[in-house]
Amino acid sequence: MDLSTTYLGLHLRNPLLASASPLGRTLHGVRRLADAGVGAVVLYSLFEEQLRREAAHNELMAAQGSESYAESLTYFPATDDHGSGVHRYLRLIERAAAAVDIPVIGSLNALTPGSWARFARSMQDAGAAAIELNIYYLPGDTGANGASVEQRHLDVLAEVKAATTVPVAVKLSPYFSATADMAHRLDAAGADGLVLFNRFLQPDIDPETLSTVRSVALSTRADTRLPLTWIALLHKRVRASLAASTGVEHAADVAKYLLAGADVVQSASALLRRGPEYAGVLLQELSNWMNRKGFQDLNQVRGLLAAHDTEDSEARERADYVWALRKANGGIYDTY
Ligand SMILES: Cc1cc2nc3c(=O)[nH]c(=O)nc-3n(C[C@H](O)[C@H](O)[C@H](O)COP(=O)(O)O)c2cc1C
Repeated sequence: MDLSTTYLGLHLRNPLLASASPLGRTLHGVRRLADAGVGAVVLYSLFEEQLRREAAHNELMAAQGSESYAESLTYFPATDDHGSGVHRYLRLIERAAAAVDIPVIGSLNALTPGSWARFARSMQDAGAAAIELNIYYLPGDTGANGASVEQRHLDVLAEVKAATTVPVAVKLSPYFSATADMAHRLDAAGADGLVLFNRFLQPDIDPETLSTVRSVALSTRADTRLPLTWIALLHKRVRASLAASTGVEHAADVAKYLLAGADVVQSASALLRRGPEYAGVLLQELSNWMNRKGFQDLNQVRGLLAAHDTEDSEARERADYVWALRKANGGIYDTY
């Protein structure tokens, strides 16, 4: 079965990507993912806070003396601190890109525009085939209005685009008041891809220890519904590639995302739960499903069940909602 596809203008052997996760933290992990057959690997994110911390440390060191050291800082984030997270990250890109024959995508976790955006260029120079911009921002500040949150996304994208020539995908949160408009504006601002969606860390509370619990919960299949809706609504309405992220557990979930219109499908939780080799199972089962359904390639699958251009997406969403609630309420809705 021919599963080859393109994403962000890159040619991929198949549409299954390893999402940013601890699996993409080591060369060994990247190799295992590539051996299992994924089309590309997104490395774990390097955080803006980390970049700023290291820059501040470097400045401090420079202020304390060595001229030659100060010179090396003129092109931040270049650093001669070989133990730094930044350096380790760039080395991982270099070694991974040399070790595997699939694209290695660097992930930058960004929140504010700033000079650290030049680090995206360092990722490119180290061999990243593309950058995934993980704009993880929960606007808890009551002074932050929707327009400023949206502008922040556009500003961060603009800085990274200005610093790089490789494709840049933006990994979005699902929490915008007008997700389609945000997608459209990022598209117009030059995003090469949109990754729908990131998952926010939602802290829990332990009533016994009277403390908050911070841990990353793995997703379940039920979590596919929100990205699925937006992929179906955005397919062919933006120029950018669409990557589905969240909730893939079985090949059927990959198939659903493709039918909705995703160019590629990412997985983190399932590969963490079952091991990187599970990617091979997902791909084999995807091929089996395509065979069973008589599809020859992904072009016949992709977007088959997207919301079509001619359709009024709001009306469709509303109609689906009303229909589902009527069914769930045993028709009781009819009596209103
Ligand atoms: C343990 C763990 C670590 C993650 N680390 C990152 C990260 O560094 N950068 C990022 O953009 N997303 C990160 N994610 C989010 C995943 O890439 C993915 O978008 C999310 O988990 C939804 O996909 P899934 O349902 O297949 O897990 C992480 C997820 C998990 C579970």
